[in-house]
Amino acid sequence: MSGESTLAIIKPNAIEQGNTGEIIAMIEQSGFRIAAIKMLHMSTMQAEILYEEHKDKSFFGGLVNYMSSAPVIAIIVVKENAVKDFRILIGSTDPADAANGTIRKLFGATLRQNAIHGSDCAVNAKRETALFFSGFEVH
Ligand code: RTP
Ligand code: MG
Repeated sequence: MSGESTLAIIKPNAIEQGNTGEIIAMIEQSGFRIAAIKMLHMSTMQAEILYEEHKDKSFFGGLVNYMSSAPVIAIIVVKENAVKDFRILIGSTDPADAANGTIRKLFGATLRQNAIHGSDCAVNAKRETALFFSGFEVH
């Protein structure tokens, strides 16, 4: 599978609302290939490591609690320019600000319950992928 890899995480609210299938379909229809996929329930520590860049922010505790509150789905997606293009597909962090047709606009509920995570740069894509998948070589 050629192209760049990035890490997506379907967040608890989207799974609880039954939107997993539609979100995966949107990802595939947007030209991304799924290289690996896994449902898991993150521990507090895993969520803290995933979002370690935000550890000094006021929302960190709430974010970590939310992401470890229920199962999520981690997905390695592959495409040319995957990191940048996946961020465009998911839309702005706050669903209220997200462009029409983006995943967060369609399936996000609140700033915290914003349906999906996407790595914000190639370095973080590699780091985050390694948290969930072993033996996957990110190019
Ligand atoms: P993500 O990492 O989940 O893909 O989201 P993002 O890059 O769009 O946003 P980021 O700045 O990395 O923030 C991570 C998550 O923290 C929540 N957040 N809350 N002011 C706040 O209360 C606040 N700001 C951000 C969001 O749920 C965001 O997805
Ligand atoms: Mg982020």
